[in-house]
Amino acid sequence: MGYLHILLVLTCILSSAFADPVSNDFIENINKQNLTWRARKYSDTSSRRLSISRTSLGLSPTDEKDSLNIVAYQIADGDIPESFDAREKWSNCSSLKEIRDQANCGSCWAFAATEAMTDRICIHSNGIKQISVSAQDLLSCCTNCGYGCNGGYPANAWSYWHKTGIVSGGLYNSSNGCRSYSLAPCDHHVSGSLTNCSAVIEAETPQCVKTCDNGTHLNYTTELTFGEVPYVLENVTSSIQWEILTNGPVEAEFDVYEDFLVYSEGVYKKTENVSKVGAHDVKIIGWGVDGGIPYWLIANSWNAEWGENGYFRMLRGENHCGIESYVVVAVPNLGSDSNIPKFEIGMLLFSWILYMYCR
Ligand SMILES: *[C@@H]1O[C@H](CO)[C@@H](O)[C@H](O)[C@H]1NC(C)=O
Ligand SMILES: *[C@@H]1O[C@H](CO)[C@@H](O)[C@H](O)[C@H]1NC(C)=O
Ligand SMILES: *[C@@H]1O[C@H](CO)[C@@H](O)[C@H](O)[C@H]1NC(C)=O
Ligand SMILES: *[C@@H]1O[C@H](CO)[C@@H](O)[C@H](O)[C@H]1NC(C)=O
Ligand SMILES: *[C@@H]1O[C@H](CO)[C@@H](O)[C@H](O)[C@H]1NC(C)=O
Ligand SMILES: *[C@@H]1O[C@H](CO)[C@@H](O)[C@H](O)[C@H]1NC(C)=O
Ligand SMILES: *[C@@H]1O[C@H](CO)[C@@H](O)[C@H](O)[C@H]1NC(C)=O
Ligand SMILES: *[C@@H]1O[C@H](CO)[C@@H](O)[C@H](O)[C@H]1NC(C)=O
Repeated sequence: MGYLHILLVLTCILSSAFADPVSNDFIENINKQNLTWRARKYSDTSSRRLSISRTSLGLSPTDEKDSLNIVAYQIADGDIPESFDAREKWSNCSSLKEIRDQANCGSCWAFAATEAMTDRICIHSNGIKQISVSAQDLLSCCTNCGYGCNGGYPANAWSYWHKTGIVSGGLYNSSNGCRSYSLAPCDHHVSGSLTNCSAVIEAETPQCVKTCDNGTHLNYTTELTFGEVPYVLENVTSSIQWEILTNGPVEAEFDVYEDFLVYSEGVYKKTENVSKVGAHDVKIIGWGVDGGIPYWLIANSWNAEWGENGYFRMLRGENHCGIESYVVVAVPNLGSDSNIPKFEIGMLLFSWILYMYCR
């Protein structure tokens, strides 16, 4: 029983046991049903299909979700716009437009968390602190979060940000911050310079090293970012909307059914007779209504070639696939230091002096 429970609760795990859904029949069957969304064949489902390392199940960190406070907002209907897109409201925060790639690792829990943390640092500093929070650091160093590349718990990730802190760090090979992601995205549809997705196997969880990448010349300790105490949003659409509207994107978890893997466009609603293959964590950045159907606007971490340029839309308001029942987040702790603004003003002055001097 305990065994099964862990299997069901762990996120990012797409069981290796399910039949390959990427058959033309499976896709055609979805597309001929006149649904609110369409399916498409991808050549890279292998990189989504991660199996769990059973040996690691012995010592189980537990999901801290139930120990977090639940936040509920009393919101009048008129206070929530019919549609909202965080990318437009906070247009000077470039991370909001970034789609990351978790590669062949079940690190969705760490990706959705660090993507939302990155956005929130920018939003809460009025666009001044554009620090990419490192998925690598969270994935590799939070031993209490779960099983690294074999899945983890969103609530624990946000608690780790509060208690321990997470350093800066960007995409694979980006040299953006202290610890960039070490797992290369794979080539999905074309033969390029990257690893062939069809050939990749599940990655091992990267090692935790509390130093910054070679060549960055950054100090791990001073690169740490922190969050305040995390909380779970009440299982009510308007509370989740108000949170996004006022504080920025959130991390959410939902159950994955096999048809989700071949989502192409539209408002996703699971079809009949499909099996559940795991759970997944993503970042909700807004909402809207399409052809009378309310949806959440969501950023995935399967790179920009998947779905609607890396995003997808999912039925909103019915707790579809559990999307409204595990929304966790925290506001950033920007500290009392204002090092970065001061530094930037300093640099501006310096450039101006140089400019005047060199003219
Ligand atoms: C498909 O759905 C749309 C909108 O619900 C409807 O207008 C149309 O008649 C449907 N078409 C078929 C072939 O069922
Ligand atoms: C970013 O945008 C916000 C909201 O429009 C604005 O208040 C803020 O001053 C901008 N920050 C920068 C650094 O441009
Ligand atoms: C990433 O960086 C390493 C070391 O600089 C290099 O060998 C590798 O080719 C780069 N990978 C990609 C995909 O650019
Ligand atoms: C990737 O690997 C698969 C299986 O080894 C092979 O069938 C396919 O042609 C390769 N694709 C590219 C683009 O190299
Ligand atoms: C970083 O540099 C050190 C010393 O040169 C070396 O031992 C280490 O392997 C390098 N690490 C990486 C990830 O390249
Ligand atoms: C990094 O910064 C911390 C805090 O400012 C300092 O104590 C530590 O000595 C620094 N480490 C290195 C390697 O410079
Ligand atoms: C789902 O399965 C039921 C019972 O086997 C069948 O009647 C129904 O047509 C199936 N639905 C779809 C969309 O295939
Ligand atoms: C969330 O709300 C839905 C609909 O109100 C309900 O069916 C579901 O059980 C709730 N889930 C949790 C975890 O509270």
